[in-house]
Amino acid sequence: MRTLPNSKTCEVYCVSRHGLSGCSAAQGELKEPTQPLSPPTKPEDRAEGGKAPASWRRWMFGVLPLFPVAAAIALTLHFLASPPSSVFFLGGSVEFPNMSFTSELTDSSSPQFRLQAQALNHYFSELYESSPCSSYYVNSGITAFSEGAEGLNVFYWSKFSAPDDVAVEIRRSGPERFQRRLPGRHKVQQDSRNEQRYYMEQDDDMLHLLGLDPDDFEVDDKSDKSKNPNSFQSGKWQLGFQAMSFDLYAKHGSNRTLSLVNPKKPYYQWRLRVPSGHVVRLVVLTLHGSTPGSCTAHKLSAYDFLLPLQNKIIARWCGLPISRSSPVMKLTSSGNVMLVTFSFSRQRDGAIFKAYFQAIPKEGCGGSISSWNGSISSPYYPSYYPPNIDCAWTLRTPLPGYLISMTIVMMDIQDASSDGCEKDWLDIGGVKLCNPVSDSSRKRVYSSPVSLHFHSDESLTHKGFYLLYRAFSPEGACPREFRCGDGRCVPLRKVCDRVKDCSDGRDEAKCSSCRPGEVHCGNGQCKPQRSQCGIQSSNCADSSEEGGCGGKCYHVCPNKVCLQKSSVCDGVVDCKDRSDELNCTRAYFKGCSSSSYKCSNGKCVGKVNPECDGVKDCFDGSDEMRCGCGTRPRKRTKIVGGSDAGAGSWPWQVSLQMDRYGHVCGATLVANRWLISAAHCFQDSDAIKYSDVRAWRAYLGMRVMSVGSSGAATRTIRRILLHPQYDQFTSDYDIALLELSAPVFFTDLVQPVCVPASTHSFTTGTNCYVTGWGVLTEDGELASRLQEAPVKIVNRNTCNKLYDDAVTPRMLCAGNLHGGVDACQGDSGGPLVCLERGRRWFLAGIVSWGEGCARQNRPGVYTQVVKFTAWVQQQTKGQV
Ligand code: ARG
Repeated sequence: MRTLPNSKTCEVYCVSRHGLSGCSAAQGELKEPTQPLSPPTKPEDRAEGGKAPASWRRWMFGVLPLFPVAAAIALTLHFLASPPSSVFFLGGSVEFPNMSFTSELTDSSSPQFRLQAQALNHYFSELYESSPCSSYYVNSGITAFSEGAEGLNVFYWSKFSAPDDVAVEIRRSGPERFQRRLPGRHKVQQDSRNEQRYYMEQDDDMLHLLGLDPDDFEVDDKSDKSKNPNSFQSGKWQLGFQAMSFDLYAKHGSNRTLSLVNPKKPYYQWRLRVPSGHVVRLVVLTLHGSTPGSCTAHKLSAYDFLLPLQNKIIARWCGLPISRSSPVMKLTSSGNVMLVTFSFSRQRDGAIFKAYFQAIPKEGCGGSISSWNGSISSPYYPSYYPPNIDCAWTLRTPLPGYLISMTIVMMDIQDASSDGCEKDWLDIGGVKLCNPVSDSSRKRVYSSPVSLHFHSDESLTHKGFYLLYRAFSPEGACPREFRCGDGRCVPLRKVCDRVKDCSDGRDEAKCSSCRPGEVHCGNGQCKPQRSQCGIQSSNCADSSEEGGCGGKCYHVCPNKVCLQKSSVCDGVVDCKDRSDELNCTRAYFKGCSSSSYKCSNGKCVGKVNPECDGVKDCFDGSDEMRCGCGTRPRKRTKIVGGSDAGAGSWPWQVSLQMDRYGHVCGATLVANRWLISAAHCFQDSDAIKYSDVRAWRAYLGMRVMSVGSSGAATRTIRRILLHPQYDQFTSDYDIALLELSAPVFFTDLVQPVCVPASTHSFTTGTNCYVTGWGVLTEDGELASRLQEAPVKIVNRNTCNKLYDDAVTPRMLCAGNLHGGVDACQGDSGGPLVCLERGRRWFLAGIVSWGEGCARQNRPGVYTQVVKFTAWVQQQTKGQV
């Protein structure tokens, strides 16, 4: 073993998991070498390369003519005794935050480039020469600059000449594992960031592309050449062909073209750059001719770096000629640079290659998803995913008790040749996948929540994966869907559409009445309603649908149904939105219909929403009795997209808390001892007994939720009355009544809201608010201050289309179809209130469910309170 003075030891630190010989560090730790490596001090031990051997060689050649025989012997002895030497390169990048990138720095012939490169060359030689490795260091070159996250990114190579054992050691530890700390000048080291350094595998192209001289690989020991055939075999080298380089920069929004027509050189390279915070998207449009299957003759490579490093290749094409009008390939880099190189052996005529690249904003990936169905894919799918990324998703069903069915539509992650999933993989629920899946294993079932993790290493990427998921009920029922005899589920909108979707035809079996949007013709058939008054078109052979359109239109309902004067304000609701009976100056006393308000004396009022509007409509005055509700005495002036509510703004808002978990759900005060909330808040989970009354506490008159804050009043719960028809799979009948252990006293901060009569109609234009302490974003935290958000009632048909017919008649949708405003987790059970005539607030809905929160075209779904007025009155024995 050779031992050398400590001060001259060139320490090679390796991070290795496999205990490579001579570099067997423990996991993830920096470890000193088992063998100290540095130039020997005695001439007979000294390796070739470095600086000292040159003078020694000069001396050798000087004495040779004088002592030919002795010299020949000495030379032979020398080659036998001294270890052979190798030249190797490290390539890397480093960012200097105190320097900035300018467009001139893309052009390697510009004076700015030259000046900056000179200064940095100086930096590298100082850095390496002041290190114990100085004797192996030869020189460095600056290849390119790019825009760093905070400054200037520099791509460089450094050349070393060292004894073979040093070179072999470094090579064996692997480029990505070679983590060497060159103990340079601390000040300079601190000035640089994001340093990456790799051992450069010597392939045929590397030196050409770096613009280095072939002699760069030459070592003093000529016998070494035969050991490194790669370095000398190519005829191109002797021809001295230089690579042709193009430096390009694309701003966001512009495409820059790369094309290769009649190439005259064997090597071409394009260094692509985009602004920081963006990634490079390369779209290859045409790629012509090469020798099928041979990568030696002809290849196009894309690197995730501005140096041609083997371990940074994103994709490489050789072989088949491809030419199509549609893009051949779309690739994405992980950072804001990409190197595209083309090399081939013979000169050709004609267009070889055409592509363009663009800057696209860097995309995040992963997250927490709570949804009934949707898709997950690798970043930028169907473009190639970028190298060097990790994405983690947690997927859960919106309600407990559901399983997740996943269909892997596409899986192109790793070359079929590699069997283990070491490089890139997708882990679903703890199982790693990387090979294409067979048809029979495309569908998988997971319990909720399931975790997904996608990993790509730093080289070679593929198209990625695309999967679809859907929540389903394990009992085999079809939540929010129609169940066929064979157990298959079909969307509700396919029921009674006169197309058999179930094999047993069950979906069309009991279709006596026409579907919305259809008219029942005299001949008993259902036909689409195309007739609108004024624009007549009959589908029914007997023209029976035009019955109501004889006279002039006095009022047109939103669905274009025409009403004559006699049908407007006549106490009978004709338009679905009741617009024909709104804003009527007098109430009509007619026979009771399902939509007319019933006074206590049994008579009915045709006026829409007559209760508590400040006008006595019933002879017995019952419509204005029991109106001590819906006011905000204190009002002087997450919910996602909402804002802080003022003190006393929503005096009926209640926080339902559990001793151990704090705030869980919202509720609404409707009488001095009754709260209304959502049934789903009280469904037991495996770990928590939410149905236990003793676990709950109601906080009233509260605004700011902080430790120890109890608001104006606190009550325990005497009874929880769940609606008997509550269905946890469909969320239908999602309502619960909570009886307080003792009545509360109404104050400025504690007031009940008005419960609407069952005939009350909340229309789209009404001023409605949802309130609560729910999370402020889908993955966020509960609000500490009560939030309020204005929402609009969403048309039922529209909402049902958006939710695949999952909105039952007991539900109501509200929100903003553009997204941005909604209730969210933790708001459940809380109120959706609307301000009605007489300036009183009525409870229109109870926060129940929604797909995600505040997403576009996914409004919040609420329990429609008017459907439960009778149940509430019955359960509370008229106290509400
Ligand atoms: N189920 C949720 C809860 O327990 C409420 C979800 C409301 N979602 C919505 N997008 N509006 O708090």
